[in-house]
Amino acid sequence: MSVVQMLKKEETNLVEENSGDRQGHYQRAFLDLSGVSIEFPTKKGSFKALDNVNLKIGKGEFVSIIGHSGCGKSTVLNIVAGLYQATSGGVILNGKEVDEPGPDRAVVFQNHSLLPWLTCYQNVELAVKAIFKKRKSKQEMKEWIEHKLRLVHMDHAMHKYPAEISGGMKQRVGIARALAMEPTVLLMDEPFGALDALTRAHLQDSVMEIQADLNNTVIMITHDVDEAVLLSDKIVMMTNGPAASVGEVLHVDLERPRDRLVLANDSGYNAYRSEVLKFLYERQRRPDEK
Ligand SMILES: Nc1ncnc2c1ncn2[C@@H]1O[C@H](COP(=O)(O)OP(=O)(O)OP(=O)(O)O)[C@@H](O)[C@H]1O
Ligand SMILES: [Mg+2]
Repeated sequence: MSVVQMLKKEETNLVEENSGDRQGHYQRAFLDLSGVSIEFPTKKGSFKALDNVNLKIGKGEFVSIIGHSGCGKSTVLNIVAGLYQATSGGVILNGKEVDEPGPDRAVVFQNHSLLPWLTCYQNVELAVKAIFKKRKSKQEMKEWIEHKLRLVHMDHAMHKYPAEISGGMKQRVGIARALAMEPTVLLMDEPFGALDALTRAHLQDSVMEIQADLNNTVIMITHDVDEAVLLSDKIVMMTNGPAASVGEVLHVDLERPRDRLVLANDSGYNAYRSEVLKFLYERQRRPDEK
């Protein structure tokens, strides 16, 4: 039975189970990871990195994944991106099974992967041409690219080469390139990990503004508890591997727009923050940590 059939069956069951509720039917999540497990073949035999990961994400939701190093965060993202195939279970996006990479899921990698021989503008253009070649005129594509570079405040340096700009600027071009693909889901693997605190804060603010504007569905991996609370609607906290899974999901119910300075003294914000810290350093403390 394919994953789609499996989920359809499950859905049918749920319709029956929930038939008495207010809406009278079960609504499948926009992005649905269901029973996702993955085993990697290694020299020492197979290694089970993920075991039964279940996650439901609504359209327009901003979700962070947090967990200790090596637990399987990138693996989850790669499965949603279609770069890895789950060994069992699967991912349904907007009613369709994910089984290969596609332009509906743009990925921003940690190590800003720009092509060094192209300018910032040309790096974004490459992605835009691949996707919109038949649908946008030359002029429309130019406006589209410039608009996305403006969103990340990189319009002033769009004709520079990657070697001529800072790490934070490269990361912004990477985000502009991903946004320019107009993805249904934006996947970001520790997008600000390598940046200094100030640049990081600027970029977090830009991402919040952009998301408020475009209402993208976002999955972001982070190691930073403050970043997770500030940006997210939902924080997915993963258990330690091997055979990692979703430990807890924290719903962050703070009003938007969010201001980091105001929130620093907000008791609600601090309560969320300490929930995540407790999960990471008490409930999922690693054996090598005292
Ligand atoms: N292609 C692969 N082949 C074999 N093992 C892999 C492969 N990819 C990941 N793993 C293993 O799966 C586990 C999860 O890796 P993953 O990269 O998803 O962790 P992570 O949570 O992203 O870690 P970090 O925070 O350090 O980036 C690790 O033990 C890793 O060694
Ligand atoms: Mg990783």
